[in-house]
Amino acid sequence: MKKTALALLLTAIGIGSAAADDVIKDVMKKYHKPEDALCKKVGKGEATSADLSTLLKAYEDMKGATPPKGDKAVWAEKCDALISAVKKVQSKDASGVSDFKKAVNCKACHDGFKGK
Ligand code: HEC
Repeated sequence: MKKTALALLLTAIGIGSAAADDVIKDVMKKYHKPEDALCKKVGKGEATSADLSTLLKAYEDMKGATPPKGDKAVWAEKCDALISAVKKVQSKDASGVSDFKKAVNCKACHDGFKGK
């Protein structure tokens, strides 16, 4: 069962990989990479409510996109972790920022989902 799902997934990626998923790259370039990136503001507890809405939307879009590699279901979980952490920060839940920092771990996600 697991193997079949994986085979199907690989086929899906093979067919659909080309252009559509600049969504992920855009989120990375806009909200993760810059010195003053929104993700860093969230980590420092400095994000405004407008920042949080922007980021939430970005992660929801990202969840719908297909990463260059990795299991789509696990990808959705990774994105959900980001989404629910941002929602926690929005609702001023004290564990929101630490949840977010864990979820936004660059390397942990890139190892599984980013191509070369
Ligand atoms: C939830 C998963 C995830 C997290 C967390 C994540 N990334 Fe990424 N990142 C990706 C994926 C997937 C790609 C590959 C996108 C592609 O090639 O289509 C990527 C690509 C990138 C790129 C290359 C963009 C380009 O133009 O090709 C940069 C820069 C980047 N990430 C920065 C970061 C930084 C900095 C962090 C941590 C603050 C981070 N990312 C956290 C998934 C993630």
